[in-house]
Amino acid sequence: MTDLPTKRQLQIEGLSVVYESPRGSLRAVDELSMHVDEREFVAVLGPSGCGKSTLLKIVSGLLAPSQGTVSLDGSEITGPRSDVGIVFQQPVLLPWKTVLDNVLVPIRALRQPEKDYMDQAMSLLKLVGLADFAKHYPHELSGGMQQRVGIARGLVHNPRLLLMDEPFAALDAMTRDQMAEELQTIWLETDKAVLFITHSIQEAVFLADRVLVLSPRPATVIDNVKIDLPRPRNDAVISTQAYAEVCAYLRRHFSTPESQAA
Ligand SMILES: Nc1ncnc2c1ncn2[C@@H]1O[C@H](COP(=O)(O)OP(=O)(O)OP(=O)(O)O)[C@@H](O)[C@H]1O
Ligand SMILES: [Mg+2]
Repeated sequence: MTDLPTKRQLQIEGLSVVYESPRGSLRAVDELSMHVDEREFVAVLGPSGCGKSTLLKIVSGLLAPSQGTVSLDGSEITGPRSDVGIVFQQPVLLPWKTVLDNVLVPIRALRQPEKDYMDQAMSLLKLVGLADFAKHYPHELSGGMQQRVGIARGLVHNPRLLLMDEPFAALDAMTRDQMAEELQTIWLETDKAVLFITHSIQEAVFLADRVLVLSPRPATVIDNVKIDLPRPRNDAVISTQAYAEVCAYLRRHFSTPESQAA
C-alpha cells in the first residue's frame, strides 16, 4: 500500500462549529484543520466531550460548519453522500429486520435496488463472520455480533471513506481487541480510507497509520503522530518496545484531569 502514490481524500480547513441554543452558544470545534489520504487509516483521539462526534457529524454531512471548509475528493461536503459510510457507537439495528436486511438499509436510503447489492451484503457478512446469521434477527445476536452487522452496513454501498465513532466503546475488553483485529483485516482487504474516533490510546495505536490528538473542547488538533508499526498488527506487535513507547508518548497529552483518555 505504501508504494502507491498517495492522494488527499478528505481535507478540512479552519473548521469551527458553534452550537446555538436559548442558553447561549457553545463552541465545540475551533479552527481545526486535518486531512485523510486515500486508503489511510487515521485515528482521532480526544478527551470526553471535546467535540469528536461533532467532527464526525460534519464530515458525514449531517451538520453544517459554522466556519471553514470540508471537502472530499476536492468537492465540498454539503450533505450526506453515497461515497461515505458511517459506523456509530451503538449499532442501532432495526429489530424487525433480519441481519441481511439491516445491512441493506443504506441501499434503500440511497434509493438503489436492494437486489443489486445482495451479493455484496452477503460477502460482507462473511467477512465479519456472520454468514450463517443472515436470516437471524438482531435480538438473537450478542453485542459484538450486532456491532459487526453495523460495520457490514457501513460498508455495503462500497464507500471510499468509512467514518467510525467509537464503534467498540460499548464492548467488553476481549471482544474489543478481537473487533480491532477484524477491522484491520477488513481495512487491509477493502482499500478504504478510515476516520476512526476513539478514547483509547491502545486502540488508536493498534489500528492507525496516523493518530491525531484533539485538545479539550473546543476541539483543535494538538498533535499528529505517524504510527510506523508493521502490519498486520497482532499480539507480537503489541508486545514491542516501539508500541509501548508510542502509547506512553500519547498518554502524556492526557495527564490532566480534564483530558483523560484510557
Ligand atoms: N446538538 C447539540 N446541541 C448543543 N450542544 C451540543 C450538541 N451536540 C454536542 N453538543 C456539545 O458539544 C460538545 C462536544 O460534543 P461531542 O458529542 O462532539 O463530544 P465528544 O468528543 O464526541 O464526546 P464523547 O467523548 O463523550 O463522545 C459538548 O459540550 C456537547 O455538550
Ligand atoms: Mg462522541
